Amino acid sequence: MDHFELKDGELFAEDVPMRRIADEVGTPVYIYSRATLERHARVFREGLQGVAEASGREPLIAFAVKANPNLAVLRVLSREGCGADVVSGGELMRALAAGVPPEKIVFSGVGKTRAELQLGLDKQIGQFNIESREEGRELAELAAAMGLEAPACLRINPDVDAKTHEKISTGKAENKFGIPLVHAREVFDELGSLEGLNLRGVAVHIGSQLLDLEPLETAFAKVGKLVGDLRDRGHTITHVDLGGGLGVPYKDGETPPSPAEYGVMVARATSGWDVHLTFEPGRVIAGNAGVLLTRVVRVKRGGNGPPFVIVDAAMNDLARPALYGAWHDFDAVAPTGERMTANIVGPICETGDTFARDRECDALQAGELAVFRTAGAYGATMASSYNSRGFVAEVMVSGSDYAIVADRIAAAAIMDAERVPDFLSD
Ligand code: LLP
Repeated sequence: MDHFELKDGELFAEDVPMRRIADEVGTPVYIYSRATLERHARVFREGLQGVAEASGREPLIAFAVKANPNLAVLRVLSREGCGADVVSGGELMRALAAGVPPEKIVFSGVGKTRAELQLGLDKQIGQFNIESREEGRELAELAAAMGLEAPACLRINPDVDAKTHEKISTGKAENKFGIPLVHAREVFDELGSLEGLNLRGVAVHIGSQLLDLEPLETAFAKVGKLVGDLRDRGHTITHVDLGGGLGVPYKDGETPPSPAEYGVMVARATSGWDVHLTFEPGRVIAGNAGVLLTRVVRVKRGGNGPPFVIVDAAMNDLARPALYGAWHDFDAVAPTGERMTANIVGPICETGDTFARDRECDALQAGELAVFRTAGAYGATMASSYNSRGFVAEVMVSGSDYAIVADRIAAAAIMDAERVPDFLSD
């Protein structure tokens, strides 16, 4: 459930008419609903209530910052008690700047540099998820030099097919992530003995936008077996990080498992583990908490197909349709009840800049406003300035108030960071 609804025939974000934001901030613009973010964080936590009760420990919900790194979004979630799952020094600095306590920060990622590992140690973050033997050795060396023991989990690759888009699947043997399960025990033995590391558990994340719990449960069962084996080998296992991945409905008829159903599965899968659990949800918290508001530039008649509705947002602002063929619902801000079938495209000079083909949608004319829904996760954060377009503004709504939470960055400002060198000056 979100807070982007029609009131008297016009779309509102909470209690703010979208038309007002378009008039005052311009389009395209991302709009986030604070109440929706808070609701989703609470629903996810409630879904894990059974897990918390069974294990006697409150799980750490570390929001996957990559899904939406906006400082205001992170602040809302931090106030809801969430930690942060970060995958770069940049994300780490954002989480801290938004007020996430360092001990609630988990550092994931397959290619952390030495400088990033050092930053994590300097900031005394709560956990490093180690993705290779080499990374573990490097982290141990850096921590030992500071007289520290870095709290860490070993990320394993369970070789499970998450049954999602191949570009966002991470848990198959051929994917770059984690330590293959067959090597996990031996790598754990080595890294577990290093001064400088407190290797205390295991992490797993098999993919994103999962619409089925079965692959997750299969992966968790493998983790459970590994935890038992590691304990048998004399290791003390106190922490398990089960990653993120829960999908959201992008279109009618898509019915991902609810956080409550996910929680029931997790409780079953982790029964008897006796560990602190961490989760790294991203999309399920932020996805439906944001829309991309856009204005129709013009409607152009098609050659032998439906008309092209050309909007002022493009693939550089919302990359998911171009990258993954992803579906985003497209609705008029002031629907008349009339419908049309259209190709919805942006102004960028490639055919990939297509949001939807042959889409039945609200009838729209030049100058009218519309939204792409479910754009709160992996939206603004994946923007580029392709075709020398700027970066769109981001707005957060809270009741009848709204604020610009990221300025629009004009194409001119991006150009200002470029130089023509002296050797080209004549
Ligand atoms: N933890 C790790 C280690 C991850 O790699 C990811 C996502 C998450 C947590 C959060 O997953 P979520 O709960 O959001 O599914 N750009 C793509 C999605 C890439 C996801 C990458 N990793 C998209 O737009 O669909």
